[in-house]
Amino acid sequence: MNKRLLFSTFVAIGMAGCVTAPTPPRLANPTAPVPPVDKHFWWGTSTSSFQNEDEGLSKTSPYYFKTDWDVFADEGHAPHRGDASSSWTRFDADLAAVKLLGVNHFRFSIEWARVEPRPGVYDEAAIRQYVRMARELRAAGIEPIVTLWHFTFPSWLYDKNDKSAVNFLNPQARPHWNAFVRRMVRELKPYVRAYVPQNEPNGAVQLGYLGGHWPPGLLLRPYSYKHALQASADMFRDAANIIHQERPDAWVIGIYSVPNWKRNFLLDPTGMTYNTMMRQNFDHLDKVYDTVDVIGVNYYYTQDAAISAFLNHGQGEVGSRYTQMGWQIVPEGLYDVLQTVFKRYRKPLIISENGLGTQSEQKKIRYFRDHINQMRRAMADGVTVQGYFAWTLVDNFEWTEGYTANFGLTHFDPKTKVRILGPSALWYRDFIRSHPMP
Ligand code: BGC
Repeated sequence: MNKRLLFSTFVAIGMAGCVTAPTPPRLANPTAPVPPVDKHFWWGTSTSSFQNEDEGLSKTSPYYFKTDWDVFADEGHAPHRGDASSSWTRFDADLAAVKLLGVNHFRFSIEWARVEPRPGVYDEAAIRQYVRMARELRAAGIEPIVTLWHFTFPSWLYDKNDKSAVNFLNPQARPHWNAFVRRMVRELKPYVRAYVPQNEPNGAVQLGYLGGHWPPGLLLRPYSYKHALQASADMFRDAANIIHQERPDAWVIGIYSVPNWKRNFLLDPTGMTYNTMMRQNFDHLDKVYDTVDVIGVNYYYTQDAAISAFLNHGQGEVGSRYTQMGWQIVPEGLYDVLQTVFKRYRKPLIISENGLGTQSEQKKIRYFRDHINQMRRAMADGVTVQGYFAWTLVDNFEWTEGYTANFGLTHFDPKTKVRILGPSALWYRDFIRSHPMP
């Protein structure tokens, strides 16, 4: 059962009251051609720090750290992630798998808490390791894309006893964020041109401040939601400026969760639910789109925007059209989402995440093949798509769902941590070889 979507959506709709559709931003030049930012198509895959890294430090180390998600797990609201795929101590295994896949791009994220375990105290060895990761990727001919925030905050910005001013709402967050971003970009810039300030801030803020399902676990707090959304947008804009100051030719990528919401005239006659969901897709991006060079669309599923449909959503992997998360597989939804986002912002797009949790390799191959075909259809119809990233490199920690979803292109041996390329990984490799694109 996908409690995450059902519950938070339900709450969001209840809070939203009468909602209008989000007005598209006024573009300076809405008919100008939109060239790709790079001449080669970006084929890639990704990981994220909290979902993949092990701690890699003993509890007695002066640089031992915790994130807000660790505290959230201590509070009993999420499973503990343990050592995940050990991507911190076994980055070599990730790199070997990435090379075998033949992708030309790889996205990973920086764990802010690991780099700054206490306010203003930086772990130099951790910074060096992230720089080494970027350098080794580049040396292998793979362009690194670095995400500076993939959902997790240092625990010193989180107070489990007073959640009214934590994370994005903590007054200390913005100055420390700016210093962290500047430091990381300065260190990484010889090897990294593409940066993602935040991964899916729209989804995380909604789940954390309205749905109560993710940290900080605030439920029914529209005031906090509004402020957290604005604070995250302000921090996004700061980061985009810093990145462009530090490396003027950098690509800033804004990555968003963009499900394909379907208007259902019977179940949602006023369109209130549909409008609410479209706002969750675009309210944050509307505040920052002018700072980004590329927009990343994380597309997983299509869903009727109607409360009664949410109640039937997420019943697990029932049949060939559903995933372990209970998400409905609709490849044409990717086409629709690409058209909508492109028309709204007129920026080059990447499909920054696309994939499914399943143990069926054949289903995974079908999913990737069908979605890539829809991407190519959108490109043929005039949408500028710069790249495609399969989610994810290796089975990992799926947030409140723990280890119950197999999103990985590869699996790993728990003892040796060696990545094992299954049929879907080999399919992706062969597809990339035969479709260098454009
Ligand atoms: C996130 C990933 C997550 C994936 C599948 C996206 O929301 O960026 O961290 O694993 O979706 O749920």
